[in-house]
Amino acid sequence: MRIGIIGLGHVGLPTAAALASIGHDVAATDVDGEKIALLSDGRVPFYEPGLDELVTEGTAAGRLRFSQDPADVVPGAEVVFICVGTPPTAGGEASLAAMESAGETIARHATGSVVVVEKSTVPAGTAERLRAAIRRYRRDLEVLIVSNPEFLREGRAVEDSLRPDRILVGADAPEALATMRRVYEPLLELGARWIETDLRTAELAKHASNAFLALKISYANALARICELAGADVIDIAEVMGADPRIGPDFLRAGLGYGGFCFPKDLVAFERLADRLGYRFPLLAEIARINDEAIDAAFQKVESVLWNLEGKRVTLLGLAFKPGTDDIRFAPALTLARKLLDGGANVVGTDPQAGVPAKAEVPDLEVVEDPYDALSGAHCAVVCTEWPEYRALDLARVRRTMAFPVMVDARNVFEPMDMAAAGFTHLPTGRRPIEQAGT
Ligand code: UGA
Repeated sequence: MRIGIIGLGHVGLPTAAALASIGHDVAATDVDGEKIALLSDGRVPFYEPGLDELVTEGTAAGRLRFSQDPADVVPGAEVVFICVGTPPTAGGEASLAAMESAGETIARHATGSVVVVEKSTVPAGTAERLRAAIRRYRRDLEVLIVSNPEFLREGRAVEDSLRPDRILVGADAPEALATMRRVYEPLLELGARWIETDLRTAELAKHASNAFLALKISYANALARICELAGADVIDIAEVMGADPRIGPDFLRAGLGYGGFCFPKDLVAFERLADRLGYRFPLLAEIARINDEAIDAAFQKVESVLWNLEGKRVTLLGLAFKPGTDDIRFAPALTLARKLLDGGANVVGTDPQAGVPAKAEVPDLEVVEDPYDALSGAHCAVVCTEWPEYRALDLARVRRTMAFPVMVDARNVFEPMDMAAAGFTHLPTGRRPIEQAGT
């Protein structure tokens, strides 16, 4: 099928590459000319494991093309996916300006009837607005709107796009559903679950899913605080809870909280939507409050163990909002970095992928590539992102290079017994601390 993609970010690019990989003829556009130049040169503008290979495979096969000009992308496309950003406005609602302009682009360039797919995360009711906007720009265009929210995770975007657990399609017209089935047929054959519903339900299901995942994380983080007060172990509790199939083991990892460009903004946007519809949903704000508290808790551990932050060197292991990405948007590590800098500490950060963007975001942060160099002379280290590289650190070497052997383990990557044996003061999250005399 001829498919057009508008918007080549963390959702649009994997979607484009995956659709090409399952046999479609995909043309994709973005307003960012630099991004198009990189892609046309065979380079992926952000770090996402396996994505460069998938893009190269698609372009080499002649099934994936990039152009800044929508006239190369929209005309002749049977289906156009809108994958533009919906960043928060000052009031926290999702900004839909890019959605409208994508609608206008489609209206101006479509050459025949077209199925327009909303992939971006949007508030319920957006599809109707989008349809009206397209009609306003082009009254005669035959257009069917579909909501097809994306559930892919950064760092796993390739496998999530090629092997999704579910494909959610909301539409009012049966022809639109039939077209979407043809788009996804190869993935359905591989076992993806097909769920079809109406437009508003599909749109709302995405906010409902992300908010619930965030709720699980905040629940685990609140439990971690209680475990620290009670002298209990949050990892064991999560295992007990997770063994119940009604709860499930995923997303119960206590730590420094969630970040990224999805959960924080989607939670606020969902709350604003509920408000606008006339339902007060304070649970959503509480999830975000507990998430902020996780960063405060890590900060307090550093402060209480070091006594004075002034003149102390604190090393942050991991800056990206999670492993497997160079994305630092809403990264808890950077919020912690700013707090420590405000408190007078010298803050050093290291990350296998996100050093450069983190430095651009927090210029006072010293960024050092090698973790051992970053730890050299540190009075305290904080594990902010659970990259496998940190779990594999040679603890004896780390112990020797640090000024004080103090590890605030905000992602619970180290086993307390190993840390005790290596002579560290180990302050994990929701687990019993180990304090070494003299630190
Ligand atoms: C999230 C959802 O998982 C995707 O299904 C969704 O498609 C995407 O948002 C989106 O709306 O586009 P993503 O933001 O890539 O995906 O990241 P996650 O893997 O969900 O992790 C989010 C945050 O939660 C990370 O900061 C992670 O470190 C944190 N987390 C996750 C925890 O603190 N504890 C956990 O147990 C799990």
